Amino acid sequence: MNKAPLLLKNKAALRKFIKSAKKDGKTIALVPTMGALHAGHASLIKKARQLADAVVVSVFVNPTQFGPNEDFAKYPRTLKEDLLVCQEMGADAVFAPQPKEMYFDDRSAWVNEEALSRFLCGARRIGHFKGVCTVVSKLFNLVQPDFACFGKKDAQQLLILERMVRDLDFPIKIVECPLIREKSGLALSSRNKYLSPEEKKEALVLSRSLKAAKDAVAKGKSAAETKKLIAKIIATSPLAKIDYISVCDRETLEEVKTFKKGQKILVALAVYFGTTRLIDNVWLTTPKK
Ligand code: PAF
Repeated sequence: MNKAPLLLKNKAALRKFIKSAKKDGKTIALVPTMGALHAGHASLIKKARQLADAVVVSVFVNPTQFGPNEDFAKYPRTLKEDLLVCQEMGADAVFAPQPKEMYFDDRSAWVNEEALSRFLCGARRIGHFKGVCTVVSKLFNLVQPDFACFGKKDAQQLLILERMVRDLDFPIKIVECPLIREKSGLALSSRNKYLSPEEKKEALVLSRSLKAAKDAVAKGKSAAETKKLIAKIIATSPLAKIDYISVCDRETLEEVKTFKKGQKILVALAVYFGTTRLIDNVWLTTPKK
């Protein structure tokens, strides 16, 4: 069994840990999370462990990335269990601050990405990515990692953070990690905890529709046909309410009308089951000829 990770509750303790790791010449990998860790997070920590000498996991339900009518208050907080996952995966330290440790009441400086954030979830969750970019920048400044691991499940977040690192010269390698699914096909998410057994069963239409989209794109179907097919499959679930379906370019996140040959695209969707909003996606390349 691995040693229990060091639990760091404030910035001073984190800075001390980082200073000592750097003094010892260690490379550092950061895994930013909001806790309620599942096998998807575990795979990020495992990757971080392979990449660097010291692994820091942050567990922080970041208030600034939730809208006023979103699930900040009810978001699952399971630090005890999270620490066990971190221990099992070999993390060295867990940074788990309270909001007042991270934010001043009169905060007025933000980090905002202005192009990719206009689409998909950014168009529906106003201010969400501003909150994400700000908190991740703060974590980058505090931890000064060499690597930071993010899952492809949050595809737009990952692409926005890559843009942020590029544009603001953070000396950090963003590591793209695979989306992890249950055997059933359901993409792992902390929000799956909100689903009733029936909703969870019906939510399988998401991965089914994306699998069909993948096959359709491979067969040379158009973007419009692909979107229609996804909508048709999701409509077979009476509990599903589509927020968006997007077939977009992976560089710009703009909707694709006509596929180019060998174009890197993202097929992404957000769908409500009851009050729970699930997202899922697949990263594809259109046929080369
Ligand atoms: O992906 C998440 O869990 C969050 O958006 C992140 C990156 C930890 C920032 O709060």
